[in-house]
Amino acid sequence: MSRKLVLRRSPIHGNGVFAACDLPAGTRLVRYRGQLRSHSEVDDCYGGDYDSGHTFLFTLNDEYVVDANVGGNIARWINTSCEPNCEAVIVEDPKGRRAHDRIFIETIKPVRAGEELTYDYGITLDEPHTPRLRKIWACRCGKKRCTGTMLRPKRKRAS
Ligand SMILES: C[S@@+](CC[C@H](N)C(=O)[O-])C[C@H]1O[C@@H](n2cnc3c(N)ncnc32)[C@H](O)[C@@H]1O
Ligand SMILES: [Zn+2]
Repeated sequence: MSRKLVLRRSPIHGNGVFAACDLPAGTRLVRYRGQLRSHSEVDDCYGGDYDSGHTFLFTLNDEYVVDANVGGNIARWINTSCEPNCEAVIVEDPKGRRAHDRIFIETIKPVRAGEELTYDYGITLDEPHTPRLRKIWACRCGKKRCTGTMLRPKRKRAS
């Protein structure tokens, strides 16, 4: 396991990942690992289960999802925040093989030892973000500018 990261209980939710040492901005911390699955496989397996408010799925690209329920590493315990100190960076395969794209979690600001690491999940659901779903996906990041939900506005389609 990375010496930069510590897994422990989080005030935000369940388990979280914390900085084991001071980290400068732009530090690549960990790859988000898990089983590579197609969107349709994931839909069949988890069937649009939006009511749990819990996910270990990460959309890699328009073909694949990384399912950290299977073969996931410490990255799957990183919580989300409305004022994150990390971001998820998708590194595309130089040969264009979508299955070889990779996700890395990197700091976007200096982080002090002991701080919880977070990135914005940027979750958008296929169905409308009703008040009920916004509540199921309530955000408890505790930041001043918390939007109150982990769901992010859907991008408007170009007409
Ligand atoms: C990838 S897991 C992160 C690990 C999680 N803390 C756990 O112990 O399972 C993602 C889930 O954690 C919870 N979570 C993460 N960030 C949260 C936040 N800011 N507010 C509320 N719940 C959060 C949600 O249930 C979310 O679907
Ligand atoms: Zn929040």
